[in-house]
Amino acid sequence: MSLRGVVLAGGTGSRLRPLTKVTNKHLLPIGHKPMIYYPIEKLTGIGIEEVLIVTGVEHMGDVVGLLGSGREFHCRFTYKVQDEAGGIAQALGLAENFANGDSVAVILGDNVFQADLAAYAGRFVEQGRGARLLLKRVPDPERFGVAEIRDGRVVGIEEKPKAPKSNHAIIGVYFYDSAVFDIIRTLKPSARGELEITDVNNAYVRSGQLGYDVLEGWWTDAGTFESLAKANDLVQKEPPK
Ligand code: DAU
Repeated sequence: MSLRGVVLAGGTGSRLRPLTKVTNKHLLPIGHKPMIYYPIEKLTGIGIEEVLIVTGVEHMGDVVGLLGSGREFHCRFTYKVQDEAGGIAQALGLAENFANGDSVAVILGDNVFQADLAAYAGRFVEQGRGARLLLKRVPDPERFGVAEIRDGRVVGIEEKPKAPKSNHAIIGVYFYDSAVFDIIRTLKPSARGELEITDVNNAYVRSGQLGYDVLEGWWTDAGTFESLAKANDLVQKEPPK
């Protein structure tokens, strides 16, 4: 199975205003690097050579100026514009031609974590089809997609539930087979007007093709002032592998 990489770096970054008034969230610094370097390096770290970057039109010029062809990262970048922040699943839908029938390893551009992805990617390849997610126990699950787990299986996922059924957050690293693009075509916008990645994952739950692992090491998103500060701290104290 060959895997292509996708980094989703669109969205409005509204929770970080005014830091994001004139730039893209994923260009903000974490430690000594721009945020977007971290997910890219996780993908190239498992030998992925083709990486798609999705971002909005406003800051695409800066993103391309920063990342270039990919030579510096030992990969090749392809770029796609997401016209409006219509959700993570909409952004992923733009990767269909790029994926060209292959499976994809998708990382949200504001997710920063310590572990190497090799073991998890390996288990997805062994799984052979469907989707594979990474979960992490967190103290504040209501901020994330949350898995309900019964007898060791994920039986449902809720996006930012008021009363979470577990403290297992779904982190922003997803492995999908090429059926993901057919699933995205069936989605309807959620109450917040977005095509939700949680709806994609629940479609895989329903078809019995969703596997998961619990991520080792630290993990954080970096989309709020608090989590951005935490990400800064973590990368300096215990650099990602
Ligand atoms: O961090 C993990 C969480 O990310 C998951 O637990 C949730 O299930 C998932 O929905 C997502 O939640 P957030 O509300 O934190 O996602 P946010 O809107 O902050 O978007 C996360 C990244 O996705 C962002 O850094 C860029 C990308 N994105 C987002 C949107 C809405 C896009 O590329 N395009 C978009 O339209």
